[in-house]
Amino acid sequence: ARQPIDELIAGLTVDVPDHPEPGIVFRDLTPVFADGPAFRRVVDGLAAPAHSDPRAAALADARAGERAFDVVAGVEARGFLLAAAVALDAGVGVVPVRKAGKLPRERIAADYALEYGIATLELHTDSVRPGQRVLVVDDVLATGGTLTAAIALVEQLGGVVAAVAVVVELAALGGRERLAPHTVHALWTT
Ligand code: PRP
Ligand code: ADE
Repeated sequence: ARQPIDELIAGLTVDVPDHPEPGIVFRDLTPVFADGPAFRRVVDGLAAPAHSDPRAAALADARAGERAFDVVAGVEARGFLLAAAVALDAGVGVVPVRKAGKLPRERIAADYALEYGIATLELHTDSVRPGQRVLVVDDVLATGGTLTAAIALVEQLGGVVAAVAVVVELAALGGRERLAPHTVHALWTT
């Protein structure tokens, strides 16, 4: 039998104490992405919730026969690794939600706090069109600050969040509650 995906991810993730600052246990997923079969299963798993989320399913029903999302948004930098793979596999495009100062054209911005700092995310205004169904992906859900900001940017442009998917959810930090009413789909919750 195939190893459950949460066990697969847990077995490859390396916990690094006191990175990037004292008191933070950093969940390093690079060995998960470096493992071909594990990366394959992670990419498949991230796309799946857009097909099972009731909100996304309702949207998909309205356009029967189509896929459940029109574009994948990835959050810099680790989210980029995942979003591009998911988008390519699904046959849709990928758009980058970037840290401040990187995007060259007309853009919107959202400030946020994350587990170990504060930052600003930006999105090109032509990256999402009104009514487009967006799958938002990232590697780790910690406090939820990052994904809250990414979702706000997508919605500010009129995008419809088809699903929010992460590889690892650090449940004690309350990110899931913070993102409500959006449901987070996590491949491993710890
Ligand atoms: C990490 C991670 C998530 C975010 C989660 O990104 O990749 O995007 O933190 O934390 P939160 O839920 O508390 O907001 P980071 O900002 O470290 O950037 P990186 O991907 O460039 O390493
Ligand atoms: N992003 C925010 N908190 C994190 C953690 N503990 N490990 C890895 N990425 C993170």
